[in-house]
Amino acid sequence: MFVPVILAGGSGERFWPLSRRHRPKQFLTLDDSGRSLLQATSDRLAQLAGDAGQVMVITSTDYRGQVLEQLPEMPIENLLVEPVARDTAPAVLYAALKIAQTQPQAVMGVFPADHRINSLQAFLEVVRRAVDVASQTGRLVTIGVAPTFPATGYGYIQQGDLIAPDLGLSAYAVSRFTEKPDSHTAQSFLEAGGYSWNSGMFIWKVEAILKAFEQYQPELYTQLSQAVRDNGPMRPTVRDIFPQLRKISIDYAILERSDQVTVIPAEFGWDDMGDWNALERLLKGEGENVAVGRHVGLDTGGAILYTTSGDDLIATIGLDDVVVVRASEVTLVVRKDRTQDIKQVVQQLKAHP
Ligand code: GDD
Ligand code: MG
Repeated sequence: MFVPVILAGGSGERFWPLSRRHRPKQFLTLDDSGRSLLQATSDRLAQLAGDAGQVMVITSTDYRGQVLEQLPEMPIENLLVEPVARDTAPAVLYAALKIAQTQPQAVMGVFPADHRINSLQAFLEVVRRAVDVASQTGRLVTIGVAPTFPATGYGYIQQGDLIAPDLGLSAYAVSRFTEKPDSHTAQSFLEAGGYSWNSGMFIWKVEAILKAFEQYQPELYTQLSQAVRDNGPMRPTVRDIFPQLRKISIDYAILERSDQVTVIPAEFGWDDMGDWNALERLLKGEGENVAVGRHVGLDTGGAILYTTSGDDLIATIGLDDVVVVRASEVTLVVRKDRTQDIKQVVQQLKAHP
């Protein structure tokens, strides 16, 4: 049995001001498909699970309503809600513990809610292969993507030897997993070759990931597994425990530590929609400037222009390589090579709203 789980509890700050704390990236529709990134993820996975009834979503209390609104056909029991967001490791562990209660033999898939994938067929084929590898070897499988520039926002996977060559699975042991290296290190990985980006999609047996948590995050494992398993009257509940859990991502918590990590290199046209520049890749072919909404430009080149309201108009003169976004009474103007720093503006606004 394969159970795909969508992680839909992140706050997606780099798409500000389109994404706001109350409406992060996964709930936005960025192209003309009419489907948000979360809905598109769910549509893709429904094909794998046999029927949409099998796809699970995990999010935090803040976003519960938006998930239900966007996925009205999902059975309510397939939605898991963390009382508070503590990053992806507690979310993955919680989902694994819940699945283990009814399907301890299941293979679980972990999928980010905010990525774009161009080739559905290639994606489905790779995930099916990953499910085979995970169930036959008991290893922790990640899907790797060929790196194209020294990005600092991704995990880097150093590919080792083919595992189980006799099984003909074309999956490789991971010699080293490095989460979000600095730019110097990222550059050296690219020059050395033999590295993939971690796509953030994982496939593993529920029992294998539980064992890894027990081994590498014993405190987190004990706290949460007790709360999920022994819910007696005097015991702390999941709601009591969650705010106390260590805030850590699955990449730092498990993937950097385990010697069971395996990579399947894949090509299906992947984009994690990390920041505004992703829009250019998404809408390429629309001419030199990428405009969503009304725009008039004089001597403007390589710009990304985005308005959410049909009444708004952006006019630019003599500007190159800028991003201009007008959304919910906020105007953002940023150089294209500084879009990663939008997070800092969001942090400042949180501190001094
Ligand atoms: N339920 C839940 N709870 N989901 C969460 C939480 C949480 O506390 N925090 C983040 N998520 C969701 C996000 O909505 C997203 O779908 C997914 O988990 C990944 O989280 P990000 O915050 O987007 O991670 P990242 O982009 O910094 O890094 C990860 O993805 C990269 C590829 O896009 C890592 O796995 C990197 O190694 C990887 O390269
Ligand atoms: Mg991400």
